[in-house]
Amino acid sequence: MRSFLTALGAIFLPLVQCSGSPPNADSASCTVTASGGDDGPAFVNAVQGCDTVTIPSETTLSIATRMNMTGLNNKNIELMGTVKFTNNMTYWINNGFYFEFQDQITFWIVGGNNININGGGTIDGSGQVWYDAFASNSTLLRPILFTVYQATDVVIENISMINSPEWMNFVNEGQNVIYNGINISAVSTSSNLAKNTDGWDIYRSDNVTIVNSNINNGDDCVSLKPNSTNIIASNLYCNGSHGISVGSLGQYAGEYDIVENFTSTNVQMYNAENGARIKAFAGPGVGSGIVRNISYSFFTEGNVDNPLIIDQCYETNATDCAAYPSNVYIQDVTFTNFYGTSSGAEKSVVASLACSPDNRCSNISVSNISLEPPSSYGNATYVCQNVNVTGNVFGDCETT
Ligand SMILES: *[C@@H]1O[C@H](CO)[C@@H](O)[C@H](O)[C@H]1NC(C)=O
Ligand SMILES: *[C@@H]1O[C@H](CO)[C@@H](O)[C@H](O)[C@H]1NC(C)=O
Ligand SMILES: *[C@@H]1O[C@H](CO)[C@@H](O)[C@H](O)[C@H]1NC(C)=O
Ligand SMILES: *[C@@H]1O[C@H](CO)[C@@H](O)[C@H](O)[C@H]1NC(C)=O
Ligand SMILES: *[C@@H]1O[C@H](CO)[C@@H](O)[C@H](O)[C@H]1NC(C)=O
Ligand SMILES: *[C@@H]1O[C@H](CO)[C@@H](O)[C@H](O)[C@H]1NC(C)=O
Ligand SMILES: *[C@@H]1O[C@H](CO)[C@@H](O)[C@H](O)[C@H]1NC(C)=O
Ligand SMILES: *[C@@H]1O[C@H](CO)[C@@H](O)[C@H](O)[C@H]1NC(C)=O
Ligand SMILES: *[C@@H]1O[C@H](CO)[C@@H](O)[C@H](O)[C@H]1NC(C)=O
Ligand SMILES: *[C@@H]1O[C@H](CO)[C@@H](O)[C@H](O)[C@H]1NC(C)=O
Ligand SMILES: *[C@@H]1O[C@H](CO)[C@@H](O)[C@H](O)[C@H]1NC(C)=O
Ligand SMILES: *[C@@H]1O[C@H](CO)[C@@H](O)[C@H](O)[C@H]1NC(C)=O
Repeated sequence: MRSFLTALGAIFLPLVQCSGSPPNADSASCTVTASGGDDGPAFVNAVQGCDTVTIPSETTLSIATRMNMTGLNNKNIELMGTVKFTNNMTYWINNGFYFEFQDQITFWIVGGNNININGGGTIDGSGQVWYDAFASNSTLLRPILFTVYQATDVVIENISMINSPEWMNFVNEGQNVIYNGINISAVSTSSNLAKNTDGWDIYRSDNVTIVNSNINNGDDCVSLKPNSTNIIASNLYCNGSHGISVGSLGQYAGEYDIVENFTSTNVQMYNAENGARIKAFAGPGVGSGIVRNISYSFFTEGNVDNPLIIDQCYETNATDCAAYPSNVYIQDVTFTNFYGTSSGAEKSVVASLACSPDNRCSNISVSNISLEPPSSYGNATYVCQNVNVTGNVFGDCETT
C-alpha cells in the first residue's frame, strides 16, 4: 500500500504542482512557471513526475532550496526561461550538496540516464554576493552552478550559464555526456573578481564532449581533474580564462589519477593566463598518476601569458621538484598548429615544457607553432626542462 501510494505520489503530485498549461493526454509533459516564492520543490517534482518539463521563455524560476534531480530516466527539460538561484549565502553554505573532492558544494545535481536539457534559456547563479564575500574570506564555500552526478547519456544544448558563485559545470561520475552550444559568462560588477569560475571540471568521468561554446570567465575554461577519459573540448571561444587544462593532478597522497584520451581542437583563447596546459604536482607527500594520449591543435591565441605549457612542478619549487619528482607520468602528447600572441608576462617565452627529472615526460611532440611575444620582447623563445621534444619547434630549446 505504501509503495503504491508513493508511486502514485511520484506520478501525480507534480501535475498538481505544474501550472500554466493543462496536463497532456499522455500525462507526460508539464510546465513550471514562477510562483512568486521558492520554485525549487515544484521544479524538482515536475522533473520527477513528467517526461518533458518546460520552463517558458518569459518565466524566471527563483530557486531558494537545493535541487536533487538524481535517479532520473528519460527526461527532457526545455529550459526556455531562466532558473535563478537566490543569493542567500547562509542557506547555501549550510545546504549545498557537498563533495569531498576539493571541498565543493553545489546548488543542483542532475543524475540518472538519458537526460536532455535545452531550449535557449539561462541558469543564473547570482554570483555577485559570492564574489564580494570571497574577497574577504578565502575559505568561503561557494556553490557550483550545475552538477551532472552519476549520470549516463546526458545532452545539454543551447543554454546560457551566468554568474556562478564558483565552477559553472561539474561532471562527477558521468558517462556519455555532451555539452553543445553553451554560453558561459561570469563577470563581477565590483572590483572583486569572479574567481574560480571554471567553465567545466570533469572528474571520474568518461566520454564527455564539450563543443561549440563561448566562455568568458575567471579560471580554467575547461579542466580535466582526476580520472577523466575520452574527453573532447573543441570549437570553443574562451576569454579571460586560465586555459584548457589537464590537471592539476597528483595532488593527494595515496591517490592515482588518470587522464587518458583528450582532444582539444579549434580553440580561440584570449586574455588568458594559459592556452593549452598540463599541470601536475611534485614535492614530498604528493599523489601519482598518468596522463596519456593528449592532443591539442589549432589554437588561436591573443594576449595569453603561457600559450603552451607543461608544468610538472606545479606549485612546487625547483629544489623540491628535483628532490621529489612528480609521480604523474606524462606520455604521448602532441601540440600542433598554434597561432597568435602571448602577453609578454613571460617575456619572449611562448611555450614552456617543464618536466620533473627521471624521464617523467615521454613522447612529447610540438609542431607548427607561430606564436609571437609582443614585439618589444623580440623573437619567440621556447623553454624546456628534463624532456626530449620531437616535432619541428624545439630544436633550439634551452634545457635547464
Ligand atoms: C537525492 O535524492 C535521492 C533520491 O531521493 C537520494 O537517494 C540521494 O541520497 C539524494 N542525494 C543527495 C546528495 O542528497
Ligand atoms: C536565508 O536562509 C536562512 C537559513 O536557511 C533563513 O533562515 C533566512 O530566512 C533566509 N533569508 C531569506 C532572506 O530568505
Ligand atoms: C535555441 O533555443 C532557441 C529558443 O528556444 C531556439 O529558437 C533556437 O533555435 C535554439 N537553437 C538551437 C541551435 O537549437
Ligand atoms: C568563511 O566562510 C565560511 C563558510 O564557508 C565560514 O564558516 C567562515 O566562518 C568564514 N570565515 C570568516 C573569517 O568569515
Ligand atoms: C550564445 O551566443 C551566440 C553568439 O553570441 C548566440 O548566437 C547564441 O544564440 C547564444 N546561445 C544561447 C543559448 O544564448
Ligand atoms: C560516447 O557518447 C556518445 C554520446 O554521448 C555515444 O554516441 C557514443 O557511443 C559513446 N562512446 C562510447 C565508446 O561509448
Ligand atoms: C574578455 O576578458 C577581458 C579580460 O578579462 C575583459 O576585460 C573583456 O571584457 C572580456 N571580453 C568580453 C567580450 O567579454
Ligand atoms: C582512478 O581510476 C583508477 C583505476 O580505476 C583507480 O585506481 C583510482 O583510484 C582512481 N582515482 C580516482 C581519483 O578516482
Ligand atoms: C583510449 O583510446 C584508445 C584508442 O582508442 C583505447 O584503446 C583505450 O581503451 C582508451 N582508453 C580509455 C581509458 O578509455
Ligand atoms: C621549497 O619548498 C619547501 C616546501 O614548501 C620549503 O621548505 C623550502 O624551503 C623551499 N625551498 C626553496 C629553495 O625555496
Ligand atoms: C629574429 O628572427 C629573425 C628571423 O629568423 C632574424 O632575422 C633575427 O635576427 C632575429 N632577431 C633576433 C634579435 O634574434
Ligand atoms: C633524451 O634522450 C637521450 C638520448 O636518447 C636520453 O639519454 C635521455 O634520457 C632523454 N632524456 C629525457 C628527459 O627523456
